[in-house]
Amino acid sequence: MKRRRFVEIGSLIVPGLLAKGHVESKFLLSLFDDPMAISSPNLLGQNFRWGVASSAFQSEGAFQEDGKSISIWDTFSAIKGHVRDASNARVSADFYHRYRDDIKLAHNMNFNCFRFSLSWPRILPEGSGPVNQKGLDFYQRVIDECLELNMEPWVTLYHWDLPQKLEDKGGWTNRDIVSWFTDYVDKCTREYGDKVRNWIVLNEPMSFTGLGYFLGYHAPGRKGLRNFLPAAHHAALCQAEGGRVTRANVPHSYLGTTLSCAHIKPVNKKEINVKAASRMDALFNRFYIEPLLGLGYPTDVLGILKRIEKYFQPGDEEKLKFDFDYIGLQYYYRMISKFSLIPPLIFANEIPASERNVSTNTMGYEIFPKGLYKVLRKFSQYKGIKEIIVTESGVCLDDQITNDRIDDQERIDYYKESIAYTLKAQQKGIPVKGFFVWSLTDNFEWSEGFRPRFGLVYVDYTNLDRKIKDSGLWFRDFLQIDPNEKGR
Ligand code: FCB
Repeated sequence: MKRRRFVEIGSLIVPGLLAKGHVESKFLLSLFDDPMAISSPNLLGQNFRWGVASSAFQSEGAFQEDGKSISIWDTFSAIKGHVRDASNARVSADFYHRYRDDIKLAHNMNFNCFRFSLSWPRILPEGSGPVNQKGLDFYQRVIDECLELNMEPWVTLYHWDLPQKLEDKGGWTNRDIVSWFTDYVDKCTREYGDKVRNWIVLNEPMSFTGLGYFLGYHAPGRKGLRNFLPAAHHAALCQAEGGRVTRANVPHSYLGTTLSCAHIKPVNKKEINVKAASRMDALFNRFYIEPLLGLGYPTDVLGILKRIEKYFQPGDEEKLKFDFDYIGLQYYYRMISKFSLIPPLIFANEIPASERNVSTNTMGYEIFPKGLYKVLRKFSQYKGIKEIIVTESGVCLDDQITNDRIDDQERIDYYKESIAYTLKAQQKGIPVKGFFVWSLTDNFEWSEGFRPRFGLVYVDYTNLDRKIKDSGLWFRDFLQIDPNEKGR
C-alpha cells in the first residue's frame, strides 16, 4: 500500500513540477529520499487537522425556514444581473435538511474536522436582540453529529451573510456593527462553547469588504472608498473584538480568524511594476493581519489608506490588536501584476490568467499550487503569528458525471501538490497545523452562481443527489488509517 502511493506521487507530482520548470532539487530529493513521502498523512504530524469546509449561506438553503430572516446575500442575489447564472441560494445544496448525510460523507472520506459557519440571521433574526431557538438548535444538531462521528467541529462565526436588518442600518459601514457583532459572538460562544473548541471569527474580511463595499460585486453591492474604508475598519475591529469575546467565553478554545491571500508577483523587475505589486500586496495580504499584530494598516506603500483614520475613535489602535492562537490562510491563486492607471488609487492591475497561457479553473484563476508554499512562507515571517491552518484550499472544475463517475484527476493533482507544498513548509519550520479542503459539497459560489464546482462531493441540483467525486475517493484512501501506523 505504502509503496503504491509513493509510485503514484513519483509519477504525478514530481514530473508535473519538472514539466513546469520548477526544479527544486532539495524538495525533490526529500520526496525520493524518503519512501514514505506523502504516502501517509501522518508525515504532517499525528495531530494534524484534516478537514473539509463549508459555509451556511452557500450550502444550507432553507432561507426562510424555522424563523430565519433574510441576509444581505438573499437580497443581493434576488436582483437581476447580480449572479452570473441568475441563480439564488434559497435551496442550494439543502444542507439544512441533509446535514446528517453530508457530515457522514465527510467522515467516510476519513476527514477528522468539519468546518461550517453559523448563519447570523438564523440565530438572531433581528440582527441583535432575541435569539431564534430553532436556529440555535439546528447548529446544536450539526455539532452533535460531528461529535458522534468523532470529527472536530470548526465553527466560523461570520461567513458573509449579514442580516439584512443590519444592512438597513448601514451594515459594516456603521460603527454600531462592533456591538452588534460582539453581542452575536457572545451569544454563540456561550451557547456552543462547552462542545466546540475550534473557532474562526471572520471569514476573509478583505473579500466581504473589498468585493461587497468597494467594488459592489458581492452583497450588499456598495461601492467606493467612502463605503469601503469604514466597513474595513469596523471589520478589523470586529476581528479582534470577536477574538476577545470568544476567548473570555471559551477559555480553552483554539481560536483563529481567516484571511484571503494571494501570491503576487510583478510581471518583471522594472521598479514601476515592483511597486505596483507591493501596493497589491498591501491590499490583498497585509491589510488585515498587520493591524491585528499591532503594525497598523499598510499605509507605507498605499498612502490612500491613511484616509481610514477618519473612522478611528480614541483607543482603536489598541482595539485592533489580538493574539490569536492561529491564523487561517485561504489561498486560491497567483496574481501577476503590473502598473496600470486603472483602477485608480491603487494603480496596479493583474494580467489575467487567460492571457498568460497557464491552466485555469472554471472561474478563470490560474491553477498554481506552489503559491500555497509562497504564502505560507510569507505569513510565517510575521513574528506574531503562532500557528497557521490552511482553512481553505480548492479548485473549481467543470465536473461531469460520466459512466456513473466523476473523474476529476486535475483536482486530485491539485491537492497532491498542495499537500506536498504544505509538507515542504513544515520541513522548513513553518508551523502549519491543518489543511481544510474547500469544499465538502458543490454549492452556491456567490456571484458566480452554481457553475463553479469546488466540492469533493458532486451535487446534482435537479434532485440534490450527492455523489463522491474521484478526488473524494482519493482523500478517503489517502487519509485512511493504516493499521501498521499509529492512529492519527
Ligand atoms: C473563498 C470563500 C469561500 C468560497 C471559496 C471558493 O474566498 O471564503 O466561501 O467561495 O472562496
